[in-house]
Amino acid sequence: MPLSSVATSASEREPPFYQRVGNECGMFEQAFRQRLPLLLKGPTGCGKTRFVSHMAARLGRPLFTVSCHDDLTAADLTGRYLLQGGETRWVDGPLTRAVREGGICYLDEVVEARKDVTVVLHPLTDDRRLLPLERTGELLEAPDDFMLVVSYNPGYQHILKSLKPSTRQRFVALSFDFPPPATERDIVARESGLPAERCAALVNLAASLRAMKGQDLEEGVSTRLLVYCATLISAGMPILEAARATLVEPLSDDADVQEGLMEAIYATFG
Ligand SMILES: Nc1ncnc2c1ncn2[C@@H]1O[C@H](COP(=O)(O)OP(=O)(O)OP(=O)(O)O)[C@@H](O)[C@H]1O
Ligand SMILES: [Mg+2]
Repeated sequence: MPLSSVATSASEREPPFYQRVGNECGMFEQAFRQRLPLLLKGPTGCGKTRFVSHMAARLGRPLFTVSCHDDLTAADLTGRYLLQGGETRWVDGPLTRAVREGGICYLDEVVEARKDVTVVLHPLTDDRRLLPLERTGELLEAPDDFMLVVSYNPGYQHILKSLKPSTRQRFVALSFDFPPPATERDIVARESGLPAERCAALVNLAASLRAMKGQDLEEGVSTRLLVYCATLISAGMPILEAARATLVEPLSDDADVQEGLMEAIYATFG
């Protein structure tokens, strides 16, 4: 299995906390039951990965997560012959394991994957649900409890790196965004241990910081960074210091942009 992939078995965990925002859990479950692949899109740190881990645990299926990048080959997903103790042995990749074991394969940042990788997905994501393994001569038929989930962030997507229509039109697709304020407050409170009233102030601040997106900022501040900020504050870090380290520095290197962000922070906490 490539270093960029992680396997989690179904039995060993409680579903990790996921606060639903709409009917995304119902949609995931139906897609799973109807054997349809799912595409999630949304900005960084808005809960896509957490959602997939939560649903995999809820449905009791093992999860195979692969972070895609442009060096990832089709063999990294499907498997390869490896020399082990003097003999060559076929070792399944994460996609093949998910197909054989009836699990969920989650390809994160799928737009980063090369064309030869996406092509492997085609027979698996239409009604054939087949995974041909040329090297072993096998043709695997995906069991009912196999599901493919892919995600990407459309925000900083390079035009050359968008998915081909013939790939994207094989998926049921859901858009993610930052949760509404009251929901985000509860998520940040639950994740950080900071009282909800104090998290509400951070979430209000996030709204003004997000309004600055586009001006010189590629992405608005994520729920993930709000959780970091609240975690540091909860641990006793002074608010302004925590805010600079989590809501300003990770967003921009530009002194003017940083100053603009800090002004919004002073206006809330200064
Ligand atoms: N709905 C939610 N329920 C629970 N936690 C959430 C939710 N949304 C965001 N979070 C929190 O935000 C953090 C970041 O979420 P996650 O890692 O799932 O983002 P992502 O969308 O996968 O981002 P990326 O595109 O960068 O991989 C989580 O670790 C969790 O603390
Ligand atoms: Mg993620």
